[in-house]
Amino acid sequence: MLKEDFRFSLFDFALSLSEAVDAISPALGNHQKRATYIAWDIGKEIGLSIEQRRKLFFAGLLHDIGGLSLKEMLDLLNFDEDSSYNKHAELGYLLFKDFKAISEEANIIRYHHVPWDYGAGREKNGESIPIESHILHLADRISVLIDYKIEVLGQVGGIVEKIKGLSGKVFVPEFVDGFVKLSSREYLWLDVVSSNLDDELNKIHNLPLAFFDIESIRSLTKIFSRIVDFRSSFTATHSSGVSTCAVELAKLAGFSEKECATMKIAGYLHDLGKLAVPKEILEKPAKLSMEEFN
Ligand SMILES: [Fe+2]
Ligand SMILES: [Fe+2]
Repeated sequence: MLKEDFRFSLFDFALSLSEAVDAISPALGNHQKRATYIAWDIGKEIGLSIEQRRKLFFAGLLHDIGGLSLKEMLDLLNFDEDSSYNKHAELGYLLFKDFKAISEEANIIRYHHVPWDYGAGREKNGESIPIESHILHLADRISVLIDYKIEVLGQVGGIVEKIKGLSGKVFVPEFVDGFVKLSSREYLWLDVVSSNLDDELNKIHNLPLAFFDIESIRSLTKIFSRIVDFRSSFTATHSSGVSTCAVELAKLAGFSEKECATMKIAGYLHDLGKLAVPKEILEKPAKLSMEEFN
């Protein structure tokens, strides 16, 4: 068994996955990153600990990863339909829940569309809902209220009024109050619409470089292979099949144990770019149109 540790930036990893998911359509923009940035600032405003904010950060970057089709992803940008969005949240949870290092984030993702409902949203089906889920929910909805095609500061008053109107019913009142205070700071809005959002996210998160042994990296990348393969029923076990074959070939070719372990991980991730292709295209039974092909 290989004991060697790999230095591994969870932030870079989450960011690249987040980008792959948001690349499914230009209309999504940087939705997950924007919601993450807003959630981070609200968390800070209401006094969340740094550990809680880090969990929120990681969950935010990946919160919509369970959305499979383009239609589903675009629907998530519709402000008024939000209470019906449980499928992608549950799927996101299922994809991450077995990985110990991020199981709490999985729980945050699971409940990120549950309305506060005057306190009834503290729990669902007997399970208590993390407060980070409610912060992410608020940040997510603020993010979709912004019209990114026009100047942002002129929109702030309308967004604040809309969110305040749902305080208690949909959002936790204390979190709404925190947001209202925060909303007077122009930097928040300018950062959210900025094309340098990556830099801003990089400055705030302070996520330490994590040290993982190769076994943990293997189980993490296996999760991502499941996410990739899940996109299309035609390829449900494709990544793990490729991974297994590649390792057997590597062994026959005399590769070292470490090289074989790396091969396994590469096999799991080799189709990662598929995350950026919507299900409608992956599963289209007929020939693709030129536009779809592009
Ligand atoms: Fe969502
Ligand atoms: Fe979202």
